[in-house]
Amino acid sequence: MHPVNREIQPLSVYLGALGMTAMTAWAGLNLVDVKAGDVIFISGASGAVGNVAGQLAKLRRCRVVGSAGSAEKVRFLREECGFDGAFNYKAGPVLEQLNLAAPGGIDVYFDNVGGDTLDAALSALRVHGRIIACGGISGYNEAKPRPGPSNLFNITTKRLTMKGLIVSDWLDRQAEFEKEVGGYFKAGKLKNRETVAKGIDRAVDAFIGLFQGRNIGKMVVQLA
Ligand SMILES: NC(=O)c1ccc[n+]([C@@H]2O[C@H](COP(=O)([O-])OP(=O)(O)OC[C@H]3O[C@@H](n4cnc5c(N)ncnc54)[C@H](OP(=O)(O)O)[C@@H]3O)[C@@H](O)[C@H]2O)c1
Repeated sequence: MHPVNREIQPLSVYLGALGMTAMTAWAGLNLVDVKAGDVIFISGASGAVGNVAGQLAKLRRCRVVGSAGSAEKVRFLREECGFDGAFNYKAGPVLEQLNLAAPGGIDVYFDNVGGDTLDAALSALRVHGRIIACGGISGYNEAKPRPGPSNLFNITTKRLTMKGLIVSDWLDRQAEFEKEVGGYFKAGKLKNRETVAKGIDRAVDAFIGLFQGRNIGKMVVQLA
């Protein structure tokens, strides 16, 4: 149970832009000290964590590039979330598209998906780059674990840092998160996007839909 401020409406914002997934985005940026001037690449960018991570990185004056699984999602990232670059990872090789979107390389990779996208990011990271290891949704339903990235040696040659993130480690900073990010929301600087499935009988379908990319922003099941 968690008390919320009723001045913030609709209350479902506390599942999205002020919810656990947004706090994951905020914690990830703090974990590797994302700062003005950084070029950050975010995978799973149109999901609940990714779109907030990108919007918060823009507020920190970073250059933000995202990948997502459809042209509609790419438009959402560019036009609604203010990403500087975005591409559809299903439309061509990730590394080629990433190199076009960030020709000078990237300083930070916010990893929500793992797999081929992590390989591409390892190649695109600059010396002393940082990786936020947040999620690996591309592998969650694999029957057998996939081989790891073939180019992990980039960590050595480019002196990269890869840090694991579990949002519950940050619960003692929840008030700080709500003050900062709630302030952005109230000031109209942060958009809350959700995909709503109506009725508890849709809950299982909504959950499976996350693995098929059927959501933009937070997937919410509305009970009544
Ligand atoms: N470390 C933590 O504490 C923590 C906390 C919360 C979430 N997470 C993790 O963070 C990641 C993002 O969570 P979220 O809540 O933002 O996600 P979400 O809103 O549930 O969205 C999931 C998105 O992942 C994409 N996706 C699905 N299968 C994919 C695949 N095979 N390859 C690439 N993308 C795929 C889909 O978009 P496309 O159309 O773009 O494919 C889908 O919309 C997940 O891996 C989640 O497990 C970690």
